[in-house]
Amino acid sequence: MSPAELTQAVEDNLRNLGLEALDVVNLRSMLDVHGPAEGPLEEPLDTLITLKKRGLIRHIGLSNVTAKQVADAQKMTPIACVQNFYNVANRQDDALIDTLAAQNIPYVPFFPLGGFTPLQSGDLNQVAEKLEATPMQVALAWLLQRSPNILLIPGTSSLGHLQENLAAADLLLPDWALSALDNIKP
Ligand SMILES: NC(=O)c1ccc[n+]([C@@H]2O[C@H](COP(=O)([O-])OP(=O)(O)OC[C@H]3O[C@@H](n4cnc5c(N)ncnc54)[C@H](OP(=O)(O)O)[C@@H]3O)[C@@H](O)[C@H]2O)c1
Repeated sequence: MSPAELTQAVEDNLRNLGLEALDVVNLRSMLDVHGPAEGPLEEPLDTLITLKKRGLIRHIGLSNVTAKQVADAQKMTPIACVQNFYNVANRQDDALIDTLAAQNIPYVPFFPLGGFTPLQSGDLNQVAEKLEATPMQVALAWLLQRSPNILLIPGTSSLGHLQENLAAADLLLPDWALSALDNIKP
């Protein structure tokens, strides 16, 4: 996305939402749509920094990025949050989560329930059954227990699922459950 397109997108968001400023804008790396890929993000980040200086953005976040890109971006501007693919079966960002937690920066896992290919695992089902919860509740509870800087954004079109997902915040996973969930393969 060129600087002009990025600026236009932010201005479109502001108009559509009826806001004077966006609280957070995540710069999503498009270097590889399938996952984080090393490469420069300076140009689009510069554009967001300019928009922040103009008062149109309050905070800048990053999405679909590597740990190096986060560190490089932090040399240019404060990074308010990071949104990457992560869930109980896909733990490739473990080190990044710990690094961000040490800096009090929120990590927002996208596809927390697997997204288009919902999580399916015998271990997950067994733990859920023993705890009298649903597998998706266990998956969300695991994320909340994984690190205090994790914020959840599970998507649903169902009121029942929304209620289930909210209740997952009260589900405490004991050590035996955490060990069993460590066996889940991506
Ligand atoms: N930054 C990025 O690049 C990026 C990429 C992808 C997604 N995202 C964001 O990440 C967020 C989550 O993504 P997502 O909604 O695609 O994936 P998700 O939260 O992992 O999964 C949503 C799927 O899980 C189902 N579901 C939700 N709660 C359930 C429950 N309690 N029991 C059974 N099934 C349940 C939903 O179906 P029902 O509708 O039937 O409940 C839906 O099919 C969204 O805000 C999305 O915009 C960001």
